[in-house]
Amino acid sequence: MSTSQIAPHISRSVIDLKSFSSHQIYSLFDQCLKLKSKFNKSAIKNYQLKGTAALLFLEPSTRTRFSFESATVRAGFHPLVLEGAAGTSLEKGESFEDTVLNLEAMRPLFFVIRAPQHYNLFRLLEFIKTPILNAGWGKLAHPTQALLDAVTVFEKLGSLQQKNILFVGDISHSRVVSSHLELAKILDYNIAYCAPQFLLPQNQNENITHFKSLKEGLSWAHAVVALRVQKERHAESLRQHQQEFATQLNEFILTQENINYLSPEGLIMHPGPINYGTEITHEVSRDSRSVILSQVENGTFLREVLIRHITDEVTL
Ligand code: CP
Repeated sequence: MSTSQIAPHISRSVIDLKSFSSHQIYSLFDQCLKLKSKFNKSAIKNYQLKGTAALLFLEPSTRTRFSFESATVRAGFHPLVLEGAAGTSLEKGESFEDTVLNLEAMRPLFFVIRAPQHYNLFRLLEFIKTPILNAGWGKLAHPTQALLDAVTVFEKLGSLQQKNILFVGDISHSRVVSSHLELAKILDYNIAYCAPQFLLPQNQNENITHFKSLKEGLSWAHAVVALRVQKERHAESLRQHQQEFATQLNEFILTQENINYLSPEGLIMHPGPINYGTEITHEVSRDSRSVILSQVENGTFLREVLIRHITDEVTL
């Protein structure tokens, strides 16, 4: 299908990153960092309300939800937030599609949706005419997290091309890694894993290097991303062997001893939320190379640009 045949709400939606060009992504980064450099409190006085947006968070969230809410307000839209199914008609048996169709009838300018995997966001686009921004979909994709990670590397290191990004921890349940695999192809950076066997994907991509030790992986990396161990997504078989797995996982915690294998210019990252002592220690999260809070800060500006893009205010 040519781009001209794709309905506008579909071409504007961000469910994954496959359709982006590197030119569009660098334009997004450029506009994000310009917004950040110009941001000041007085700018808030100039915000004009242009309409509403429907933010549906059907899985727990702190950063992404507040970030999208802030970005929605700064872009001039009023965020109407549905947080979990409790207290909504989903609890009474209404289908997800019906809920979205009814909310669409109230004319939000866009949807932001965090949903479990069994809700199909691509299929939803066949029923509605309003663009969707994916705010984390099961373990399938978290495109704005990958983009905010990448803009942070770009900001701090000046380039992403041929940079080495090491993912440590729960790779197999990570939607962040899934989105980075798409983004790395577009922006030409390298991805490697460092994790115990039980947290590696079953179908391993042959192009991805797997480092057996943190020492090797950190020596290779320009940036290391520690990932949360997502116990809530672990199958029963994993839960039954928790004690044994906890021992294996100990070798993959970012600590003050092993973090010095990362170069002095290297970046320490985590998408959050953090389980201290399981993925990273408190001390390492506060190391001078840590950009964990810069990731969060950049995420709000990046999402604001995406919202301005899908509502036709800026082009990428
Ligand atoms: N990084 C991230 O998605 O965090 P939240 O689950 O708090 O939104």
